[in-house]
Amino acid sequence: MPHRPNVTPTTRHVVSINDLKNKEIDNIFELAASYLKELPDPTFSYRIGHSTDLASRYILATLFYEPSTRTRLSFESAMLRLGGKIITSADPATSSAAKGESLADSVRVISNYADIIVIRHPRDGAARLAAEYSSIPVINGGDGSHEHPTQTLCDLFTLKQKNKTLKNMNVAISGDLRGSRTIHSFVYALARFGADITLMPAKGMELPKHVDARLREEFGYVPAPRSTYENDEPSIDAFYITPEEPHQLSLIPNQNLVDVNIRIREKLEKIDVVYVTRFQKERWSEKEQHYPKIDAKFLKGPRYSQTSVLHPLPRVGELDVSFDTDRRAVYFRQAAYGVPVRMALISLLLKLHKNKSLQRFNDGFEKSDHLVYSQPVDVGVQCVNANCIVREPSERQHAKNKFYVIGSKPPHKCKLRCVYCETDIDETAAEHFVFADRSKGHYTMDIRWLQEAAQEKMKDIVIFPSESDAIAEGLHSKEDRAASTHWRTKSAS
Ligand code: NCD
Repeated sequence: MPHRPNVTPTTRHVVSINDLKNKEIDNIFELAASYLKELPDPTFSYRIGHSTDLASRYILATLFYEPSTRTRLSFESAMLRLGGKIITSADPATSSAAKGESLADSVRVISNYADIIVIRHPRDGAARLAAEYSSIPVINGGDGSHEHPTQTLCDLFTLKQKNKTLKNMNVAISGDLRGSRTIHSFVYALARFGADITLMPAKGMELPKHVDARLREEFGYVPAPRSTYENDEPSIDAFYITPEEPHQLSLIPNQNLVDVNIRIREKLEKIDVVYVTRFQKERWSEKEQHYPKIDAKFLKGPRYSQTSVLHPLPRVGELDVSFDTDRRAVYFRQAAYGVPVRMALISLLLKLHKNKSLQRFNDGFEKSDHLVYSQPVDVGVQCVNANCIVREPSERQHAKNKFYVIGSKPPHKCKLRCVYCETDIDETAAEHFVFADRSKGHYTMDIRWLQEAAQEKMKDIVIFPSESDAIAEGLHSKEDRAASTHWRTKSAS
């Protein structure tokens, strides 16, 4: 069992956009706007032009295992504008990672050198692992194709500068929705603020199944039936319609489909935002084909007349440069907002302000209601995502197979969500998870048993992906054993 550093329970980390409450996101935006006002650039309203000394006692460490221009430099600029200092490790080839040092060890060490860390890593879930081993706040600057929450803060801030509310906005997202981490954070945030989401993926690059499932199950989104829009707009892959009252991480009943059809017809008439993404070539072995290209021709007609066009950048041909002078292009402004937005996030995490309403930020984020279950990496169910940080050989001694156990109502149906990369493992009709107590040598498929056991100790409990896996380990069904004991007792008496 690896020794864990003394991480204080109140250390805040921002790994997923869902680590921030809506109110906290509003606080970040309020503060970012006040920095723009108080430290203005005389020529450009979206730029920070001066510095303060608010963070003069603090150091920010940027730990980047993947290339970056905007995220790292805007974080560093933000810290310098706040009067703080920066240390940076931007090239894995020149850090101890090249000698095989684990991320967990690196982060434990860097926690002693700085007050806050921004990390970028090619593995999904790396930032969550880093947070587990860090005694100072960790901000996720992009982990594999998992999430990029601070990009989403910049995106939302850009939209809110134009429209006060995101509720019922129709946001279309184009390109590589499977591999773009920016999109995964973005759609959760859109759902939480009640926007409608229109998906225009490149072929084969649709939203990952688990992201789609969360939109439906946790945020109550209703995907509209294809027949309602297919003839008008074949490039649209899916419409997700917001519930009337958006809830954060809660289940609500589906809407009436007749209403959905009417709303889809309205939505087709006006798209408020087109969010463009590049093909994430570093994540896939295949080449892109027929990748959607957004230009003035695509954006012609009344549907797009008031559209804001966003892109997290870098772009590599999917968004035509001739569009840059169009009044609807806001992507360079979106990149500029990276500084005030990140200044605000750093300020709140480092508690630089004495303002009471901002202090609420430090209370800690809401704990997930789901049971968290963990087992050693080599036993039982494994994360199915080959790019998950738990699959990284250097992290094997540090990471566990850790899952949220989701869904519990009989008849037995549940899924496991990896705590790090948040990929789901679903039960199939043919195979159910099996919960085993290895010290007693038996297993059950009844999730209620796991929930009861979780109240006590989980040490000897292992979840197997199927009954045959448990039997192969020499375990017996708890129910069969109870029945045979009962039978033996009866026949002896
Ligand atoms: C994005 C990223 O790194 O995920 N870039 C950024 O941080 N602005 C988008 C991308 O690389 O496509």
